[in-house]
Amino acid sequence: MSIRPPAGMLDAAAAQARASTVRSQIAGCGSYLPERMVTNHDLAKLVDTSDEWIVERTGIRVRHVAAEGEFTSHLAVKASERALAAAGTKADAVDLIVLATTTPDETFPATATRVQERLGMTRGVAFDVQAVCSGFIFALAVADNFLRLGQAETALVIGAETFSRILDWQDRSTCVLFGDGAGAVVLKAGRGNGLPTDRGVLSTRLHSDGRQHDLLYASGGVSSTKTAGVVRMDGPKVFKHAVEKLSAVVEEGLTGAGLTSADIDWVVPHQANRRIIDGVGKKLGLPGERVVVTVDHHANTSAASVPLALTEAVGDGRIKPNDVVVMEAMGGGFTWGAAVVRM
Ligand code: ACO
Repeated sequence: MSIRPPAGMLDAAAAQARASTVRSQIAGCGSYLPERMVTNHDLAKLVDTSDEWIVERTGIRVRHVAAEGEFTSHLAVKASERALAAAGTKADAVDLIVLATTTPDETFPATATRVQERLGMTRGVAFDVQAVCSGFIFALAVADNFLRLGQAETALVIGAETFSRILDWQDRSTCVLFGDGAGAVVLKAGRGNGLPTDRGVLSTRLHSDGRQHDLLYASGGVSSTKTAGVVRMDGPKVFKHAVEKLSAVVEEGLTGAGLTSADIDWVVPHQANRRIIDGVGKKLGLPGERVVVTVDHHANTSAASVPLALTEAVGDGRIKPNDVVVMEAMGGGFTWGAAVVRM
């Protein structure tokens, strides 16, 4: 019988050897959307906009908005419970939670620790990452590295947001774009659990560029204004950056995985705008039917958008075991990244 060293106790050589053989495999995914739905027609009663304008410029028709008293952690817990059930994993088997959010319940502690407590976990480690709309890709990359280096065996990776709380509901150029929700995946170290090691996270690529701050930011923060602020954005400039950066990072991710765009079964893009999604697909030469689109009924849920879309496409049978799936996202900072996964 072999005895596994305690998590975090591998020496450098053992960690390196493990990283080259272990893959982080997606064992299950789940999502949750708040009950309340807000249509474009509802928004046209608040600001000078129309269903036609929003659909034509963004593809969005409806978004979900959290109820009063419903926080990011509540959405995250529901998505996590569903992901754990899909993976057939009990919460006490999880030794790592990485939660991506821009809209934490509180300034501290991390929303991830609220989720940890509500799932009944009394061990392991839980923390938040902040990369706005790219948050889930960043969280997935962090968890993947923990698993491959032997610092965890089972991780919950969550993207959860109540972006409605940081919108300026008088600014028609931003308030029509976003929604609330959460998605989660269970990642398991794919060695010694009977699964083939060619399945799992094949590569991740992350970037940031602080020079683009003024194109997309919140107008406040704890340290500067003692308030959360609201979303401010130069939409057309963000749009241009998004198509270029997302196409480039998908290519990088594919190269890292030793694949080309011809190997892609599905792209699960960040759901910001239908025209961005189509622009990236076109640049990569991908047929539209290989791209998962949920922006019409979720809008932009920031860090939650990729796991929400992934869960939908796994749930309805489009994404199947062994499919090569590319996830990509870009957000404020700018931050952007891609993950290539064999399901
Ligand atoms: N309803 C009606 N008119 C509007 C609205 C609205 N909701 N919002 C803006 N307009 C007006 C503008 O005031 C402008 O009027 P003007 O010509 O009289 O000045 C006109 O519509 C055109 O505005 P643009 O901003 O040039 O419109 P554009 O076609 O670029 O669409 C949009 C705007 C949808 C924001 C687009 O630029 C976009 O999607 N950008 C990407 C931003 C994004 O998705 N960010 C999310 C975070 S980052 C990310 O996730 C990638």
